[in-house]
Amino acid sequence: METLLQSRSSQCIEREEKYNAHNYHPLPVVLDKGKGVYVWDVEGKKYFDFLSGYSAINQGHCHPRIIQTLVEQAQKLTLTSRAFHSELLGEYAQFITSFFGYDKVLPMNTGVEGVETAIKLARKWGYAYKGIEENKAVIIVCEGNFHGRTINVISFSSDPDSKKDFGPFVPGYISIEFNNLNELAGALKDKNVCGFLVEPIQGEAGVVVPDAGYLSSCYAMCKAANVLFIADEIQTGLARTGRMLACDYESVKPDILILGKALSGGTLPVSAVLCNDEIMLTIKPGEHGSTYGGNPLACKVAMVALQVLVDENMAENSDELGNYFRTKLAALQSPYISLIRGKGLFNAIVIKHSHKDAAWTLCLEMMKNGLLAKPTHGDKIRFAPPLLITKNEMDICIEIIAKSLAILD
Ligand SMILES: Cc1ncc(COP(=O)(O)O)c(C=O)c1O
Repeated sequence: METLLQSRSSQCIEREEKYNAHNYHPLPVVLDKGKGVYVWDVEGKKYFDFLSGYSAINQGHCHPRIIQTLVEQAQKLTLTSRAFHSELLGEYAQFITSFFGYDKVLPMNTGVEGVETAIKLARKWGYAYKGIEENKAVIIVCEGNFHGRTINVISFSSDPDSKKDFGPFVPGYISIEFNNLNELAGALKDKNVCGFLVEPIQGEAGVVVPDAGYLSSCYAMCKAANVLFIADEIQTGLARTGRMLACDYESVKPDILILGKALSGGTLPVSAVLCNDEIMLTIKPGEHGSTYGGNPLACKVAMVALQVLVDENMAENSDELGNYFRTKLAALQSPYISLIRGKGLFNAIVIKHSHKDAAWTLCLEMMKNGLLAKPTHGDKIRFAPPLLITKNEMDICIEIIAKSLAILD
């Protein structure tokens, strides 16, 4: 029986490797069902999902309200293209702009499209309002950033794996150290700078949390230099860090806010760029768009996905259980955990071990014990479960992590 069951997973993995591009290195688990904080593999084994689709599934797998809305709307109208109006686009635009307090939204699909849109808006604004000479606009970014995978966005990545042999790259970016206000001050002296693009907490870099006051200081410095503060909250936003937005911790309202991932509760790619009219109306008909951006299905799903976060107090739960998780994890006093960091349920540990694959080994062991998490950059493991996880479930997860750490002995 065991071999037969194992072979189902292996067959799936083999087929995927044979026919699918090798652009990821997944854990050897084949999933076919999800509910709340749980996923099941093809053999029926149940796991806690501690990745949440890279924070796209904040509301939990297959949230009943989101799925019901998705199914009902899918049977009615899914796509109009922007060649025609839909009733839902206006309703959604009104909903999301009042939700976050902006004049307008520009709806896109994937996160990186949201980032591209924000960059285009910042450049347009720089030419229209700051008088930057044509083709001279510059955007400041941070080392260690992750904003997606397009050629433009990888042009300002500092990760060699993301860039190697993909050049030539797009000019117009200055990279500074994250969490370094002096470097920002220096970069802002350039009169051609129109925007500062930043993740409030660097996610892919391993949940790197800047010093308290960093974001508000950056914002103030950008204001003083007449530069747009652009927050990529694709991963940190939507209650993940214990607030609706990570910027809320410092009462910073970005000039341009980028959202994605959990905006659809993990059902379909939905991203959004929010800003006020002075910036948004620099883009005119025909200058930017997307076939699927703002489609009725996405609009309907995004509204319910946001409402679920509020109705189910997910930011509060994320805050409370995040603190609980970090405290419990620290209490393990594992010699293999050199650092625990995070906010809300957006956390990572840094593994200290003589073996370079220790983080991967630990993830395999946790998988065996019923918890799925994935290493990033070799020695870091992100712990980001869906935000509806309960204290009891968290206790079980801590036990799994504690038990699994023994594999590193
Ligand atoms: C901060 C941030 N920005 C942008 C992206 C890109 O989003 P997508 O993969 O949907 O294009 C990601 C994805 O992980 C992200 O974490």
